Amino acid sequence: MQNERVHDVLIFGTGLAGLRAAVELSIKTDGKVNIGLVSKVQLMRPHSVCAEGGTAAVMRPEQGDSLELHAWDTVKGSDFLADQDVVDRFVSLSPQEIRLLEHWGLPWSRRPDGRVMQRPFGGHTYPRACMAADKTGFVEVQTLYDQLLRYNTFTRYDEGFATSIIVENGRFAGLTMYDMPSGEFVLLRAKALLIATGGLGTLYGFTTYSQTVTGDGHALAFRAGLPMEDPEFLQFHPTGMVPSGILITEGCRGEGGYLRNNNGDRFMEKYASKMMELAPRDIVSRSEMTEILEGRGFKGPDGLDYVHLDLTHLGAEKINKRLPLMRELCMKFLGFDIIKEPIPIRPVAHYSMGGVEADIDGRTPVENIWAAGEVACHSLHGANRLGCNSTAECLVYGGITGAEIAKYLATNPALSDSPQKAFGEEKKRIFEDLINKNGSENIYAIKKELRMLMDKHAGVYREGASMKEGLAKVKNLKASFKNIKIEDKSPVYNSNLINALEVENLIDLAEMLLTAAIAREESRGGHARRDFPQRDDEKFLKHTLVTYTGGDPKLSYKPVRITHWKPVERKY
Ligand code: FUM
Repeated sequence: MQNERVHDVLIFGTGLAGLRAAVELSIKTDGKVNIGLVSKVQLMRPHSVCAEGGTAAVMRPEQGDSLELHAWDTVKGSDFLADQDVVDRFVSLSPQEIRLLEHWGLPWSRRPDGRVMQRPFGGHTYPRACMAADKTGFVEVQTLYDQLLRYNTFTRYDEGFATSIIVENGRFAGLTMYDMPSGEFVLLRAKALLIATGGLGTLYGFTTYSQTVTGDGHALAFRAGLPMEDPEFLQFHPTGMVPSGILITEGCRGEGGYLRNNNGDRFMEKYASKMMELAPRDIVSRSEMTEILEGRGFKGPDGLDYVHLDLTHLGAEKINKRLPLMRELCMKFLGFDIIKEPIPIRPVAHYSMGGVEADIDGRTPVENIWAAGEVACHSLHGANRLGCNSTAECLVYGGITGAEIAKYLATNPALSDSPQKAFGEEKKRIFEDLINKNGSENIYAIKKELRMLMDKHAGVYREGASMKEGLAKVKNLKASFKNIKIEDKSPVYNSNLINALEVENLIDLAEMLLTAAIAREESRGGHARRDFPQRDDEKFLKHTLVTYTGGDPKLSYKPVRITHWKPVERKY
């Protein structure tokens, strides 16, 4: 068929997880695999390049670290919602990912003895963040792409915006894609699909995410009938630069930075007297918000009040060596030198612990669809992820899913029939119905309002009545979306149309997140409710599942797999 392309495997999303899976598939099949790489941006422009601080792995067992300690830190950090068998597998595979990247030439920062440098990170009881100064994600993506170039296994669909995942007869049948540069609408078919599209963070106004991160993989999977697991757990990173939201790495605190309120006090002493600034993110973010709400912050623009991250005692040499990007960013975006002045920061939307339900092998409930990286929920992070466990997860689960898909292909699975009818309907939906909308609503105004309401109603501290108000506003925006106007009617590189598709995705995700959050009447990890301030293991030691219905999302639950550590009070 014209406008139809067939591959063995499609990898939807080409950040760390997607690239790592492509490399593993190429290795495991000895280069005899035909991969389609679908990215809405250029291949080397995924949000993974923005990862700064490091990648967690146990590299010094002879010096006091251990897999058990990493697993315990992760489970305790997760507020006991992580599936412990998944955690065990993850910590045992992470060190070999660091060694692989080392062999592939990644320029890790080094200790004087030549070994990979590791620094402390929040919630980890051992300095376990392998680092390349403060540009770790960038060099990881670069190294993986270099490796992939050794194999002649892939076709790139850069600037290809996927609009739907077609599942027929319980199997993946195709991905519909708007090829922005040519204006073509394309049907991509394959025996297997890996979803690796990253996060959904631009659902919030104040966020560390690139503007390209609009939860497309989440939304397409959700509408295709794949359940979303634990979406209410949205992580707020403690140090978002005010007012831009740019990430100021936790590595700053790992290198010894202090958090101070408007009295100059290191306030973390009150909240986590042992780990102080290096307590897990949920705790540090709540502590900052408490300081700000009780009047011990500084007045910021547009209600973005803040506290200080003070690095001035670290000295120029350390900052230049370990945190050069932070210095450059603050000079460019704030106009001052962090060697001399503290940085204005506040909690910022940074990571989604939940995502597409996937098992310990990364397989979703649809037999030929896998998910890896932030878009997936393997139940590794539970209610709160530890810093540096994300890039590690992308590498580990990219590797696992790449190997699993290679095994699946070796069984010679049949390609599903070409889903021509669904393709035709999707083409009509976008290139006849959506593009010709001439209503009175502006998609950019809808997006702005959506993000502001998420900041307001689903932030660090939450409350039932406020979340319900937020959900009602989301439903209103959903109704407004039906009456939008697409100004640009041309088929080629229509960013107006792309923005509309992205907003549509974000609206569905906001509804899903709020529905799950309202129902979880307890406080756990990143979900802190004023009206239910305690963790309630009796009622809520369970994973949320949200399913798309076309109307209100449907909720169900499943148990947490606890293999060795029973929940206890978290003290830091
Ligand atoms: O602070 C950071 O560098 C972020 C790390 C992470 O989210 O894992």
